[in-house]
Amino acid sequence: MSEINLPELHEYSDASLKAFFSEVKKIFSESLAVLLGDHNRTPEDWEAFRIAWTGRKQGVLTRIGELLKTAPPDRRRAVGIGFNALKKEIEAEIAFDVAVGVSGNVPSTPALIAGDYPKSYRDMKQREIEKNRIDITLPGSVRTPGIEHPLLKTMNQIVAVFHHLGYSTAVGPQVESDFYNFEALNFPPNHPARDTQDTLVLAGQQAKPSRDRLLMRTHTSPVQIRTMIANPPPIRIVVPGKVHRNDAADATHSPVFHQVEGLCVDTNITFSDLKGTLDHAMKELFGSDVKTRFFPSFFPFTEPSADVQISCIFCAGEGCRKCKHSGWIELLGCGMVDPAVFASVDEQRALQGHAPAYDPAQVSGFAFGMGVERIAMIQHGISDIGQFYSGDMRFLEQFA
Ligand code: PHE
Repeated sequence: MSEINLPELHEYSDASLKAFFSEVKKIFSESLAVLLGDHNRTPEDWEAFRIAWTGRKQGVLTRIGELLKTAPPDRRRAVGIGFNALKKEIEAEIAFDVAVGVSGNVPSTPALIAGDYPKSYRDMKQREIEKNRIDITLPGSVRTPGIEHPLLKTMNQIVAVFHHLGYSTAVGPQVESDFYNFEALNFPPNHPARDTQDTLVLAGQQAKPSRDRLLMRTHTSPVQIRTMIANPPPIRIVVPGKVHRNDAADATHSPVFHQVEGLCVDTNITFSDLKGTLDHAMKELFGSDVKTRFFPSFFPFTEPSADVQISCIFCAGEGCRKCKHSGWIELLGCGMVDPAVFASVDEQRALQGHAPAYDPAQVSGFAFGMGVERIAMIQHGISDIGQFYSGDMRFLEQFA
């Protein structure tokens, strides 16, 4: 920044001093306006400006201070008052402008721009302030913490009930072979559940032997087989997971849904154990007032098999629309592990070099499987399964 020429001061009358100080202020305002008008100005430019005016050694204010020392004693007071006023204004202005120029943040200091500067300069500063103004009354961006999806919440609740009974969690792949999904579970070759109507099969599997063909698992039961092949009894597992069926989506069906499977194998496991375990689990999930009842059913991999019903939680068994006026709601499938399943497991264990461990004369067990969506729908009184997958926050937020 080039050296600033001071106006001349020949004597110290009030009029001369006034003219002198206002001339200095004019020079200051003009050179500030030049800097403000320079769109390429840098922090270094601001620093040079600051030093040129308020620098201790060669700054304009220091030079004026030196000059005024020559004032006669009777004029010192008038000189001092005028000089201090100028100094205060320039220093405040510099502090403000340098801070704004370097940081870009405009403090709200209307007093600083209310001085007798040219209007064009005041307007320029006003525009800068407007441009950078922050409205502190606007709401900030709020980050809400995530929540468990209602399906995951129910699935975790079911799993927790069985964890408390000493069960551990097991999982398996969603892309499964025909062997684990059907064959080892005693599905006869032409069982309708194997039909491509129900099962989503992977393309390009025809060249493989039937048991090796890949498909999307239609239930979590293949994890029973995987667990028993890898481990001798005793077994107590729960298997939460995603399953797939070639079903059209409607209010109660989805081609992808979730199940929790259970398997308990040990010596002397009876149907009473199955009933007691599931009765306890249903009371944990739906409240201690619910009753359970077991209806004869059929699954290829359990014998005998049963469907478990709970007393309607909406009408306490009186009969209502939700339970189709029966007083009961069907909730899950279960049964005693079929000896044919144990036989497939031991056969496969032998092929993999494990000792046989599932002689039906020595061990017995029960299994059960439940649909997570169905249970969550009953828990929360939800009538359309599609809500779970819609991603609609208004629906999901209700479970926070
Ligand atoms: N896997 C059966 C289904 O998906 C449910 C089930 C599991 C039944 C275990 C009995 C025992 O329908």
